[in-house]
Amino acid sequence: MRITVQTKTGAQEFDCEAGEKILHAGLRQGIALPYECGTGTCGTCKARTVSGLVDPGWREAPGRSYLKEEKSEFLLCQGTPSGDCAVMVPGKLPVDSAPLPTPGHYRGVTGSYAVLTRDVVSFTLTLEGRMDFSPGQFAILEIPGIEGGRAYSMVNFAARTDTLEFVIKRKPGGRFCDWIFSQPRNGVSVRVFGPLGRAVFRPEENKNVLCIAGGSGIAGIVSILSRANDFDYFATHKGSVFFGIRTANDAFFLDRMNGFASAGRNLDIVIALSEGEAPSALKDIYPALRFESGFIHAVAAAQMAGKFENVTAFVAGPPPMVDGALRMLIMEARLPAQDIRYDKFG
Ligand code: FES
Repeated sequence: MRITVQTKTGAQEFDCEAGEKILHAGLRQGIALPYECGTGTCGTCKARTVSGLVDPGWREAPGRSYLKEEKSEFLLCQGTPSGDCAVMVPGKLPVDSAPLPTPGHYRGVTGSYAVLTRDVVSFTLTLEGRMDFSPGQFAILEIPGIEGGRAYSMVNFAARTDTLEFVIKRKPGGRFCDWIFSQPRNGVSVRVFGPLGRAVFRPEENKNVLCIAGGSGIAGIVSILSRANDFDYFATHKGSVFFGIRTANDAFFLDRMNGFASAGRNLDIVIALSEGEAPSALKDIYPALRFESGFIHAVAAAQMAGKFENVTAFVAGPPPMVDGALRMLIMEARLPAQDIRYDKFG
């Protein structure tokens, strides 16, 4: 099937396989279509059918609330064509400042399932092929029997890898969460599309790094730290990481963070508890980490005051935390928009 995407400034054409989402078809062929979540939530990929037929896909997709369906609007990340079609995208197609790995379709099998806290699990996917991704990117996972994909950031970092690592925090009422938390899920075949996301760490930019993360938002930050650690980035650049959790019982990945903080000469990692104080035993086990109390964006604002020069900030976590951190970075730190990176898939 042939798809034409029209914008006010021109048109792009590409092929789409039967049953393939239009967003996936375009992105895997190098067309920079608009998207953020890739999973039917944010509404960024809104488009209008000009000719031909498009099946709009997942009926309960939250992003459909941004559509005027009587005007044939649909979400590129959910819609599949029934034949050749032309669609109109509002605005211009995004331009990436530097090339990112081209996404594609993969199959993967789950393994190494582990319960990290009462509401956080981790697992790996062994892919049939190999994937290149940049630190900070995510993939969309689909499992049989659950409609709609789910976006999760990769925790690991490796070039041309066949192994992706993920961490998932339980959300109430999430069908994917209910599935993954109900029993150890090893050996399950999963459909994967990725890598996606533009909130990536590029060492060649030569900037100091500030990361503010809450809960499972730490996933992409660990990937960034792994990449930086591989070639001693924090020997010559400053790194400041703020990881927000509720209580000491909600802590995970502290071994890894302690390892990064020990290895990086100019890397400071702060764990902030929003409820209570860190027990002294935790401080003894992880001597390279610092522990504070308070909401993560407030802790970061207090500790970073006057230190925002030449910084790129990465923000990830639940939407209220991300909103608070973005407000702080824009209003208090006065960082320009291009130096603040985050993906909207909370
Ligand atoms: Fe399609 Fe977010 S709703 S990218």
